[in-house]
Amino acid sequence: MPNPEQSLSLPGYLQENETSQEFRDLIVSIPTEKGWIANHLHQYQGFWHTTRQLQGVLACQKHFQAQDGDIFLVSTPKSGSTWLKAVMFSLVNRVSFPDTKQHPLLTNNPHALVPFLEMEYIGKENLDFTNYTFPRLFSTHLPLSSLPRSVEDSDCKLVYLCRNPKDTFVSFWHFSNKLTPIDWVATSLEETFDKFCRGVSLYGPFWDHVLGYWKESLERPQRVFFMKYEEMKNEPRIQLRRLSEFLGCPFSLEEENSGVLDEILELCSFENLSNLEVNKIGKLHSGQEHQVFFRRGEVGDSMNYLTAEMVGKIDMITEQKLHCHGLKF
Ligand code: A3P
Repeated sequence: MPNPEQSLSLPGYLQENETSQEFRDLIVSIPTEKGWIANHLHQYQGFWHTTRQLQGVLACQKHFQAQDGDIFLVSTPKSGSTWLKAVMFSLVNRVSFPDTKQHPLLTNNPHALVPFLEMEYIGKENLDFTNYTFPRLFSTHLPLSSLPRSVEDSDCKLVYLCRNPKDTFVSFWHFSNKLTPIDWVATSLEETFDKFCRGVSLYGPFWDHVLGYWKESLERPQRVFFMKYEEMKNEPRIQLRRLSEFLGCPFSLEEENSGVLDEILELCSFENLSNLEVNKIGKLHSGQEHQVFFRRGEVGDSMNYLTAEMVGKIDMITEQKLHCHGLKF
């Protein structure tokens, strides 16, 4: 009997998008599964992408030109990218914006200040980032093996942020529900969980994504800095100091003593960002409301949603896939 997930009506959803023949040929040649809401997920270079997102991935792989000195914030979805975007933007631009009472983050959502590489390229080819101030700061969810070639060929720095898979999963489930139209049936926790554990999640398999960057951070520590959401929550000052050193912009003693580090952390705190007017009512140019990126911002919230069986299953996968490489959550 055919697997219903494999026998999706491909032409139907492809017609909804304005896609090239080349793209349609690719889509029908790679594995496809039903995602969440109305999305389909396609497995490209070992990782799962929505139809729209895959268009951006291909375009950015083809056209993006990295430069020496570029900084990339790479993360798995729902691992705290919004937070770290704010932190990294404040960190590398602290000379230009020394006053956190008159800071771009007070009137702009972090996603509006740091371009999201593959999303920027959806439907576009000729993006020009050459006039961006140095160092250019980008964000991406791309797995290591799918980064544009020019990133590997340039002297760039990659900051990788991940989060324990249970909280990441629960955060994603809430996020996808928020994006579900009110009159649609939301995807159940159980169904989403099953897909996540099978690796069929946005930019999943989660564990392969993390492992790629973890190994790279061990082999090339000057190039990849590996961060965990939980460590940033527990010891933000230590982590921010380490991040500043990795990026080559360490805090001077004078800055430390005058409270610059603490001001950045305060500016970017969940409490501060989530209560700003811009993040309560604004929308991204893609249409997503800013507020969907702020929910609870806590470690361990997944325990309020997952059964003991689910916890056991996800912990087992993490142990099998990551512990042997020295990575624990
Ligand atoms: P929860 O859903 O667990 O609350 P991303 O930015 O990668 O989409 O991740 C979203 C997660 O980061 C959400 O987690 C969100 O609440 C949390 N988050 C957003 N801003 C934060 C901040 N300033 N500090 C800590 N967590 C934050």
